[in-house]
Amino acid sequence: MIEFVLASHNQHKVEEIREITSDLNINISSLSDLDIHDEIIEDGATLDDNAWIKADYLYKLGYKYIIADDTGLEVDALNGAPGVYSARYAGPAKESEANIIKLLGALSNCDNRNAQFRTALAVYIDSVKHSFEGIIRGTIAKAKIGEGGFGYDPIFIPEGHETSFGVLSSDIKNEISHRGRALQAFKAFLLSNLEK
Ligand code: IMP
Repeated sequence: MIEFVLASHNQHKVEEIREITSDLNINISSLSDLDIHDEIIEDGATLDDNAWIKADYLYKLGYKYIIADDTGLEVDALNGAPGVYSARYAGPAKESEANIIKLLGALSNCDNRNAQFRTALAVYIDSVKHSFEGIIRGTIAKAKIGEGGFGYDPIFIPEGHETSFGVLSSDIKNEISHRGRALQAFKAFLLSNLEK
């Protein structure tokens, strides 16, 4: 059993990542489990930079098996915004409801609603760094659909589906999502390396 630490305070993320990796022989402790309550300042220029800022923070505390993710919603008509600023799009309070209202406002006269979620995953395995990425394309709804999930989920309709991540089950989200895809790549890597 490998003990990983996950550089996140977001309980939704922690649960998603635990579900997606539940078939691996690993245990994942979150920052709350470790009683680490510091806010890690995510001031990188890219999602990848921010994922590594979070992973490196734990590495400097002495951990050697670490998972960190950073996710952004990239909207085509906004040239990839809010992207790396997705959490603070409507201000430093990082409120999902305010972010959604601002994004719907920015797209109010816009027919091109294409967008993607992108996750950068930064992983330390026995002190060695590995990067993975996952993308899901979709469209931004005209208004919230459902209340499930978290963050921008209620306004993101993934390709191949008629409704938002706010309505789709966590099983479906985890199978097709940005984070699910990045973690599948991580899982494939871990399995092939553990077998050696
Ligand atoms: P971070 O990766 O925790 O920095 O998240 C950046 C922003 O994207 C925050 O506003 C999150 O709520 C949002 N976000 C991250 N992952 C997801 C997701 O899976 N669905 C919807 N919103 C997300």
